[in-house]
Order: sequence, then C-alpha cells, then structure tokens
Amino acid sequence: MKSSQQSSQLNKENSHHFKEFSLSKKGLEIVQKEMTRYETKLSCVIPCLWQIQKEKGWISKSAVSWLSQITQIPESHIFEVLMFYTMFNKQPVGKYHIQVCTNVSCALKGSRELVDELCKNLKVKENEKSVCGTWTVSRVECLGACDEAPVIQLNDEYLGKIKKEDMLSFLKSKAE
Ligand code: FES
Repeated sequence: MKSSQQSSQLNKENSHHFKEFSLSKKGLEIVQKEMTRYETKLSCVIPCLWQIQKEKGWISKSAVSWLSQITQIPESHIFEVLMFYTMFNKQPVGKYHIQVCTNVSCALKGSRELVDELCKNLKVKENEKSVCGTWTVSRVECLGACDEAPVIQLNDEYLGKIKKEDMLSFLKSKAE
C-alpha cells in the first residue's frame, strides 16, 4: 500500500476510534494538562485513566486506544497500568460500586460473608452490574483502614466497622 493510502486508511481507523470514545471538553483539557505535568510522559497514564473513569465510570478498550492516540503512549503500556491497579474498573459498574475488603483483618470480621449477603440482597453477581443498574459488588485487597474492619468503599467514600443489617438498610435507602 502506498504511504498516502496507508495514511488515509490510518485516519479512517483513527476517526473510527474517536467516534467510539470521547471525553467532555473539560475532561479533555484535564488530560492534556496531565500530559504536560510530569518529566516523564508515561507518568501521566494513571491520572489520565482516573479522569476517564471519573467521567465514564470505567475504562473501555476504545478509551485506551483514544488515550494512546492522544498521548502517543503505546496501548500495551496503558493496558499494563490499567490491569495492574484494582481501582480501575475494567467493565461498567452500577451507580453504587461497593468494594468490600476481604483481606485478613476484614475477613476475620466477616467481610467475605458480607460480600455474599450483599450480592444476595441486592440481587447482583460479584463484579457485575445489577439489572436495575444501581449496584456492583466487588472484593478488593486491604483498603488501608484495618483497625476499622470490616471496611468497604462505597464509590469514593470509606465506611468502617460495618454491620451487615445496618449496611443493607443504609444501601437500600440510597437507592430510593
Ligand atoms: S484488611 Fe481490610 S482494611 Fe486492611
């Protein structure tokens, strides 16, 4: 293929990716600002992914392609970062994402059973979005507040010393 043909083909593919994914004007400005903030360009990947998640709720494959094209960082590197950190959602999550710490201190206080109870009562399978779109329940590693065990993270909020009954009524009140 001649180089002009290759470039027009690439442009078509690029515009296809761009059609699949875009951020708001403000989101794009934040990503562009992050790209200039660090000495090493690769350092902007985490804050850029975070901005995408803030706006879209999760990181899709087309979001990774988009970020790769905007930053000129290889998709493979962005994927590595994405897969390493559990804080990034790799699939759509409900309006309320309940992340339950199931590490040792919390497990000793019943957090693993709490996951089962939450899934049963909120009618959702682990890591999936409930049919109503309200809930996702996930297990996570230590949330760094072991003295408050059992601990959950509800979207951006940390909640400690969770009691199963209180938690269920609290969550249901949020959904009303
Ligand atoms: S073990 Fe659950 S917060 Fe550390």
